[in-house]
Amino acid sequence: MISAAEPWARPHALTVQGQSTYAQRRQILELPEFHKLHTWLDSEVSTYLDLVGSVNKVTVINSWVNWNPPESSTDRHSHQLSRVSGVFYLEAEPWCSPLRLYSNQRQFQGYDFISRETDYNQQYRDIGICRGRLILFPGWMEHSVPKTAGPRTVLSFNTVFV
Ligand SMILES: [Fe+2]
Repeated sequence: MISAAEPWARPHALTVQGQSTYAQRRQILELPEFHKLHTWLDSEVSTYLDLVGSVNKVTVINSWVNWNPPESSTDRHSHQLSRVSGVFYLEAEPWCSPLRLYSNQRQFQGYDFISRETDYNQQYRDIGICRGRLILFPGWMEHSVPKTAGPRTVLSFNTVFV
């Protein structure tokens, strides 16, 4: 499955020392090798929308594969036009970097004096990864990948309302 995406792998500005099919092929999930995965992802996104109480329906608008070799990282960014975004881990060693999801609460804290970090005011949360894990999050949520010790290959996607 991963090898089907490799012809479109190129360096990408956000992925330091890594490669991506982003902007090279709009929909990696439309390759026949990804058909089963695409169907499963659609189902998981529907479950996510139900869990967050949304009545909206979405569809995948673009999808891509990122390769992060050891020592590579991905800069902090968001997928602003996406409703639900997802990352599915095609390959990930146990010592790989997590996915770092950032809170947007800082802008609402105003002049609150924060004396210490707690579970309720953290500026980000690291989500551990493993092969086969799917992480879904709102497209507006900023995220990054700290410099990784082990190689990781992920399929990412964005969705829009239908
Ligand atoms: Fe991203």
